[in-house]
Amino acid sequence: MSNSNQLQGKRVVLGVTGGIAAYKAADIVSRFKKEGAQIKVVMTKNALHFINPLTLETLSGNPVYYDTFQHRSNAWEIDHISLAKWADVMLIAPATANIISKVRCGIADDLLSTVIMATTSRVIFAPAMNTNMLNNPIVQENIKCLRNKGYEFIASEAGVLACGDFGDGKLAKVDDIVEYIKKIFIRKNDMRSLNVLVTAGPTREYIDPVRYISNPSSGKMGYSIAKACIERGAAVDLVSGPTYITPPTGVNLYYIDTATEMYNKVMELFPSCDIVFKSAAVGDYGVENRAEQKIKKTQDVMELKLVRNPDILQELGRRKQNQILVGFAAETRNIEEYALKKLHEKNLDFIFVNDVSRQDAGFSSDTNTGILFTNTGERVVLPIQNKTTLAHSIIDEVLKRI
Ligand code: PMT
Repeated sequence: MSNSNQLQGKRVVLGVTGGIAAYKAADIVSRFKKEGAQIKVVMTKNALHFINPLTLETLSGNPVYYDTFQHRSNAWEIDHISLAKWADVMLIAPATANIISKVRCGIADDLLSTVIMATTSRVIFAPAMNTNMLNNPIVQENIKCLRNKGYEFIASEAGVLACGDFGDGKLAKVDDIVEYIKKIFIRKNDMRSLNVLVTAGPTREYIDPVRYISNPSSGKMGYSIAKACIERGAAVDLVSGPTYITPPTGVNLYYIDTATEMYNKVMELFPSCDIVFKSAAVGDYGVENRAEQKIKKTQDVMELKLVRNPDILQELGRRKQNQILVGFAAETRNIEEYALKKLHEKNLDFIFVNDVSRQDAGFSSDTNTGILFTNTGERVVLPIQNKTTLAHSIIDEVLKRI
C-alpha cells in the first residue's frame, strides 16, 4: 500500500519542549510541509532557549504559539481551544520528562500542556532526554500510565547524547517520526464495497412520557466503529440511541429511543448488510404498561412491572445468511465465561467483551480494552487504547478472519 500523500492537507500541531533536540523541530516542520501537511507549532518557554520561533514560523508558514496570553489580531479566539480543535494529530517532539510528567498528572499550566489536555485528537510523544532521566522509575511509570490512557510514544534511540553519555534517550529519527504520523492517516480502503450496520448508545424504556430507565452508554464505542468503517471505505448504517456526541460524517444515521424501535430498524436494514457491529447497550427489560400521561405522585410506593424486550442480536443470529455478526458484551464479573455463552447462544461470529466495572473502560470512558472471541475458539486480547484506535483494532481482527 502506498504511503504517498497521506499527509496532504492534514493538520498537525507540533509541541516543542525544552531539550537540546529542539533544534530538530526545524527538520520535522520542514518534512511535514514538504509532505503537504499544515503545521502549527506550540513551544514551551524553555524551548525558546534552544530554537528561535522565527525559524519555525518561517518553515511552517504559521505563527508560533508559546504564550497563553499572547496578543493576536484574532484576539477573540482562545488559542488552546482553537489549536486543540484544529489538530488532526498532536506530536510532541522532543518531549521532555517534564511535559510527560505534567500531562500524566493533569497539570495544565502553560499553553502546550493546556492544548494537550483539551484535544481529542491522537497525541504522540517522541521523548528525548538523558538516559538516567529516561530510566528513572518515575518517568517510566508516567510513560506507562499515559500509554494505558491511550497516549502514544515513539521510542527514543540509543546513541551518544548531547551530554556525552551513551545510552537510550536520543530523539527518534525524523524519518521514523514522519512515517509514524503518516501511518495514522493511511486510508486502508479494505472495507470498500461492504455494507456495515452499527448500533450504538443506550436505549430508553419509558415509564411515562417524561421518565425512563436507561444506562450510561455514551455511544462513543459504536460511533468510533462507525467512523472507522467509513474511513476504510464501507457504507455504514448507524442505528443510535440518544447520545450527545456528533455522528461521523458520511453515515446513514437512524435515531431510535427504545429497544423495540431499535429492533424494528435493525431488522429492516439487516438483509442488505454484510457485517453487524452490535455495540449498543440495549435495555433487556421494558415497562409493561407505559403511562400515556405523566404519573402523579399519589402513592408512597410504586411498583413497576418489567417485561423482557426482544433480544435483537439473538434474532439476527437466527436470521443470518452470510452476514458476519460481531456482538459486544458488557460484563462486571466472570467476563470470559459470560461472553462465550453469549457468543454461542446468539450464534455470533465474534464477541468483544469489556469489563464495565473499570473506570477506564466500557461505559462513557474515552478508552477501552477487552477480549475478542471468535466462534472458532480464538481469544485476542486488545490492550487499553482510545476508542478510535480500538475500533480499528477490532475491525483489523475481524477482517483478518473473514
Ligand atoms: O457507548 P459507550 O459509552 O462508548 O460504551 C460502550 C459499551 C460499554 C456500551 C460497549 O462497549 C458495549 O459493551 N456494548 C454492549 C452493551 C450490552 O448491551 O451488552 P450485553 O452484554 O447486555 O448484550 C450483549 C449483546 O446483545 C450486545 O451486543 C447487545 O447490543 C445485544 N443485545 C442485548 C439485549 C437486547 N435486548 N438486544 C441486543 O441486541
